[in-house]
Amino acid sequence: MTTTARAQGATVWLTGLPSAGKTTIARHLGDRLKAEGHRVEVLDGDEIRRFLSAGLGFSRADRNTNVQRIGLVSEVLARNGVLSVVPVIAPYADSREAVRGRHEASGTPYIEVHVATPVEVCSERDVKGLYARQAAGRLTGLTGVDDPYEPPTDPALVLPTQDQTPRESAAAVYAVLAERGLV
Ligand SMILES: Nc1ncnc2c1ncn2[C@@H]1O[C@H](COP(=O)(O)OP(=O)(O)O)[C@@H](O)[C@H]1O
Ligand SMILES: [Mg+2]
Repeated sequence: MTTTARAQGATVWLTGLPSAGKTTIARHLGDRLKAEGHRVEVLDGDEIRRFLSAGLGFSRADRNTNVQRIGLVSEVLARNGVLSVVPVIAPYADSREAVRGRHEASGTPYIEVHVATPVEVCSERDVKGLYARQAAGRLTGLTGVDDPYEPPTDPALVLPTQDQTPRESAAAVYAVLAERGLV
């Protein structure tokens, strides 16, 4: 019988405002990692809200529950050798710290990336029309506009995407994984 060394997984959490570029960067990074033969999972907030977090809203409590559920799934994946890329707003610092703590408890790498696109740029991009709907009074509780966003105080990486291409942003995340010996 032969045994093979298990790859080291990690959670890469991309936090930032709506339209900051989280999903775009996660896709680029995920594609590159897959092409290199890594086991990869992208846990996108919008998709997860349709199943794992179906029924949850956007109150502080529900946003926290959403983040804890995703954090749990991601930690399980990462602990079992998967590179788990998580493009999820996660607006509250204490929610993110709980996820970090869960990873630390099992010795699983947790890499927090702040996709730090300014709100002015995000609202111009407005990929899903949320900023326009908020401005027109048809939506309330938009993160970074009329709902809180607590920026990370000590992220592994800050991405000013307004000055980068998506490829460059994804390459910067990849470089952090490489520095830590995870790819
Ligand atoms: N450096 C960059 N990184 C990521 N997205 C970028 C960048 N520059 C421009 N964009 C554009 O910004 C938009 C970000 O949308 P998306 O990834 O859906 O945001 P989010 O998932 O954070 O809501 C896309 O249209 C993308 O092409
Ligand atoms: Mg997204």
